[in-house]
Amino acid sequence: MAHKTTEYQAFSHQILTWYRENPRDLPWRGIVDPYKIWLSEIILQQTRVAQGLPYYYAFVETYPTVKDLALAPEEEVLRLWQGLGYYSRARNLHACAKSIWFEMGGEFPNTYDELLKLKGVGSYTASAIASFAYAEVKAVVDGNVFRVLARYFGIDTDIASSPAKKEFEALANQIIPKDQPGEFNQAMMDFGARLCTPKNPGCESCPLKDSCFALLHNMVSDLPVKVNKIKIKERHLHYYVIKCGKNWVWKKRTSGDIWEGLFDFPQVESGTGDIAPAMEIPSSSAEETQHLPKKYRHILSHQRLNAVFSEVEIAEENLSKLENWCEEEGFMLVEESRIEYLAKPKLIVNFLNDQGI
Ligand code: ADE
Repeated sequence: MAHKTTEYQAFSHQILTWYRENPRDLPWRGIVDPYKIWLSEIILQQTRVAQGLPYYYAFVETYPTVKDLALAPEEEVLRLWQGLGYYSRARNLHACAKSIWFEMGGEFPNTYDELLKLKGVGSYTASAIASFAYAEVKAVVDGNVFRVLARYFGIDTDIASSPAKKEFEALANQIIPKDQPGEFNQAMMDFGARLCTPKNPGCESCPLKDSCFALLHNMVSDLPVKVNKIKIKERHLHYYVIKCGKNWVWKKRTSGDIWEGLFDFPQVESGTGDIAPAMEIPSSSAEETQHLPKKYRHILSHQRLNAVFSEVEIAEENLSKLENWCEEEGFMLVEESRIEYLAKPKLIVNFLNDQGI
């Protein structure tokens, strides 16, 4: 056991030394405000740093404290999140801010166990906040950490399997130095993101090259082991872009899907996409202009969306009929100049950009 401890200490020492010489200059580094750390970590879930940075700046500027976020309307929060994807993160962020402000007296949870109770906060995020803000000794384990540990220690457990997380967490928690847990976690994140990368890792300049199992056994490209189980679902959506003068028909998406709370158009889904499913739109007879459908493809982590947009123009004299229909169907009419304020999925933003909206 003693030699393991020495090996772990040598590993963490090398990682920390490398980090001190190669730190990324990120705005949430060195911050101890748990609210801002939490914001950054939620934004960075499933998101690359370069993509998340402008959102982090926008959120801390618009909502400098948990109170500001708690008091904001959900639609405004979703609009600020627009384009980042995985919108449940924004809904959870807002719901947590409200419960921290209204139910916990504005006191941010200050232990790993309490942080874990927040919606949208899993072990990675709780460890990051607890170690950065409160110096709690909890190791973060994500894809970067899996990779660094699997390669260095020669672990061939399938990282997509359920026991993997426990195994790697246990190891990382043995390695993490008790006197600088936050710094070690940041170091592991950066080491995995910049040097021990999935492809073309910088092994020649790596401070661990003399003792890395994968390098010594010519297994760098074999580790970590990941057996892909994700099945990608193909979906075919037919959108109706219905306009009456400057008014557009919109739908606010309700419960239970990834885009809950966002706005898009009336839509019908079909199994194969071969047959355009019809929608009964009032007053959209042959005389009404029906533009050619436009096709878009949008890739999410578990779904591939094939979207067709058909544009339907309704004569302005039929506006009241259209209003009644919208009321019955739960749609809403939105004036063109107000569209930019709606929180929309990226797919819809792309379509609108091509329309010059
Ligand atoms: N990815 C997730 N959390 C991060 C952090 N704090 N710094 C850099 N990348 C991250």
